[in-house]
Amino acid sequence: MTRKYNFSAGPAALPEDVLFRAQSELLDWQGQGLSVMEMSHRSPEYVSVAKKAESDLRELMNIPDNYQVLFMQGGATSQFSMIPMNLMGNNVSADYINTGDWSSKAIKEAKRYIQVNVAGSSEDSNFTAVPAQDELQLDSNAAYVHYTPNETIRGVEFDYIPETGDVPLVADMSSNILSGPIDVSRFGMIYAGAQKNIGPAGLTVVIIRDDLLQAPVDKTPTLFSYKAIADADSMLNTPPTFGWYLAGLVFEWLQAQGGVPAMDKLNDLKASKLYSYIDNSDFYTNPVDIAVRSRMNVPFILAKPELDKLFLTEATSAGLLNLAGHRSVGGMRASIYNAVPEAAVDALIEFMQDFAVTHG
Ligand SMILES: Cc1ncc(COP(=O)(O)O)c(C=O)c1O
Repeated sequence: MTRKYNFSAGPAALPEDVLFRAQSELLDWQGQGLSVMEMSHRSPEYVSVAKKAESDLRELMNIPDNYQVLFMQGGATSQFSMIPMNLMGNNVSADYINTGDWSSKAIKEAKRYIQVNVAGSSEDSNFTAVPAQDELQLDSNAAYVHYTPNETIRGVEFDYIPETGDVPLVADMSSNILSGPIDVSRFGMIYAGAQKNIGPAGLTVVIIRDDLLQAPVDKTPTLFSYKAIADADSMLNTPPTFGWYLAGLVFEWLQAQGGVPAMDKLNDLKASKLYSYIDNSDFYTNPVDIAVRSRMNVPFILAKPELDKLFLTEATSAGLLNLAGHRSVGGMRASIYNAVPEAAVDALIEFMQDFAVTHG
């Protein structure tokens, strides 16, 4: 068996140790004679798996007691509509910061439910920057402020947490959750699709402050109500049991690596190696404002775009997978989430060097 280096933006690389562990437990979970996928979600065995995953995540992120952690389905995209449905209350509008493709999608969906005020945008720079705190036009009557701390497609990551006063801050952390320490108490709600830094696709994690667990707008499906899900410990219906279990294994793996501070250091190292190689090269460029370059998703373009296809073919032959940029922007993108080792980044840089020498 040869495992290759996987730079996919998501579903993304999982830690090899986690895959081995899941493999070893697949047919017979802890002597029970069945796989975790085949267990009732209400069995004491499965409930212990689920609770351990939650408490490990709480420990990793230092989540205060007045926050609920929900394990849901529907991806981050479902949250785009669930957020206004659940958080609008009696308010008429919500503030959104637009820094790229994912925040734009969140805005588009929210407009179906609530008046959206775009409180800041980096569209003018073709989404290569983020608006500064003093450029945000925040409304103190907004139901909440929504932003995307890391824009996965163009590789733009906020270098600050917006200050929103008493208005709850909602963050789509799909592509940077657990990549570095954050102060959860600054947020009303954090959500993330699992398929990048948490586990397999099909699971969505929501961290929400207790006071925001209010009745959603009329006719909201029960399964879309944060309050109903929280009241049922995320088991209002059958949860994505295997994804939840695997997320738990990833959380244990993270703890064994030294937790989020260790990931933070490693992510700094991996990203700075790759960006400094790109910046010192005549053949590759990254257009993003240096202060807000993503540590998770590193897009780059070749001086000769006609070589894109060849680059990808040769990279794949060299064991470097999934380097194509998002279909909407083209070029290349290396996603270097927690589970992508430093050796993968070293191998990528070596390949990029060789390619530039041969074809540049
Ligand atoms: C920042 C961000 N938000 C939302 C999504 C959409 O997630 P999902 O496919 O889980 O709905 C993605 C997916 O790549 C993302 O990167």
